[in-house]
Amino acid sequence: MTLLITGGTVVGPSGPYAADVLVDGETIAAVFAPGRGPEGVETLDATGKYVIPGGVDAHTHMELPFGGTFASDTFDTGTRAAAHGGTTTIIDFAVQRTGEVVQDGLAAWHGKAEGNCHIDYAFHMILGGVDDDSLKAMDQLVTDEGISSFKLFMAYPGVFYSDDGQVLRAMQKARDNGSIIMMHAENGIAIDVLVQQALSRGETDPIHHGITRPTQLEAEATSRAIWLADVAKDCPLYIVHLSASEALEQVARARNDGRNVFAETCPQYLYLTLEDQLGAPGFEGAKWVCSTPLRSKHEPHRADLWRGLRTNDLAVVSTDHCPFCMKDQKELGVGDFSKIPNGIGGVEHRVDLLYQGVVDGKLSLARWVETIATTPARMFGLYPRKGVIAPGSDADIVLYDPNGRTRISVETHHMNMDHSAWEGYEIAGKVDTVLSRGTVIVDSAGNYHGRKGHGQFLRRGLSDYLI
Ligand code: URP
Ligand code: ZN
Ligand code: ZN
Ligand code: ZN
Repeated sequence: MTLLITGGTVVGPSGPYAADVLVDGETIAAVFAPGRGPEGVETLDATGKYVIPGGVDAHTHMELPFGGTFASDTFDTGTRAAAHGGTTTIIDFAVQRTGEVVQDGLAAWHGKAEGNCHIDYAFHMILGGVDDDSLKAMDQLVTDEGISSFKLFMAYPGVFYSDDGQVLRAMQKARDNGSIIMMHAENGIAIDVLVQQALSRGETDPIHHGITRPTQLEAEATSRAIWLADVAKDCPLYIVHLSASEALEQVARARNDGRNVFAETCPQYLYLTLEDQLGAPGFEGAKWVCSTPLRSKHEPHRADLWRGLRTNDLAVVSTDHCPFCMKDQKELGVGDFSKIPNGIGGVEHRVDLLYQGVVDGKLSLARWVETIATTPARMFGLYPRKGVIAPGSDADIVLYDPNGRTRISVETHHMNMDHSAWEGYEIAGKVDTVLSRGTVIVDSAGNYHGRKGHGQFLRRGLSDYLI
């Protein structure tokens, strides 16, 4: 099928320009000056709309096992919700549980995803331990499985945790095979002490989750990861879900020194605060329990993160989509905040929430597209197949309506959650039409035409940012 998208404003990394986009089958065939495309083909009118590459969410956790339960979105429900929100690629985290063979963990993840995704998907690998076997597996995943990034945790002792020696060994391996280490940078050993002290004082409410994970312990772990990567001969390092000014400072310093250090933040840290959580009645604050935690509005974190996005010290915005229902899931932590499963669901809202940053004058249009699509695709070896409107790229395209409005609510979202961390948020813009590999999966009336199984597994190459 051939389709000409006419009259729109294409937004690329170099800025917005008027152009018509020709889709042929699953890919983009050509980009024309307005009115110069072929005649007699089916058209899609994009007048008054932005034409942007489909969103690439580089950080999701469908069905993640956590605290005795599983993240509540399956690959079916989660990728369908993503599609509604203009995201056409996710990179989910396959998990090697501690004691498990890496390849077995990966096979299990393929089992969950295969045939169930509405949009294209790829995997990072969470290493549940670093030993001779998992180091060997890292090579095999890079060469044979299309997985070129590995997440380690300095947090969660006894669950996903790697000690500094393990971190160093994995970084040395990544330096050798061209992959990237993604780091959950919080000092979990120190945090566990603060958690036990809080609980022994009877401080059991959800708000104590954030209070026991102070910014210093994010900054310290971020700094330690940066120095360990330096020892590993400048292993590429990507700090996930960065939330605190002090951690951003560490990243900025390393980048100023020319180091191979990158970072992402998430919409929750750009908008939500510890005070939102503090103001919530009863156990409601559990909705916003995630790690790294929300930070105080009385400190400059949010303003610093927006600035970091502009300066590229923060290169990517991902959701860290990790939904848990209140009922039977978050409620596991009634009377003990440390048992609340960690995570916020938001895979559906990232494109909109970052567009609000454009409306608010905090981001340019070009930077919006770069942080939600182009850079994540380049960072994780999916470019130029994903992340750009260009001939030869997959026809993953979003028409975005700057005159539309979006109101976020549990009543209307598509994620499998019984609440929304973003309830009542209004955005001065709207996802209008979504194409995945040339197929219209969401139309401008909001009708859904996608299907489970349309999404394909993407084997990734190495990062464009490797030096
Ligand atoms: O709270 C979070 N972020 N849950 C998901 C797991 C992780 O650490 O990314
Ligand atoms: Zn994490
Ligand atoms: Zn995560
Ligand atoms: Zn719908």
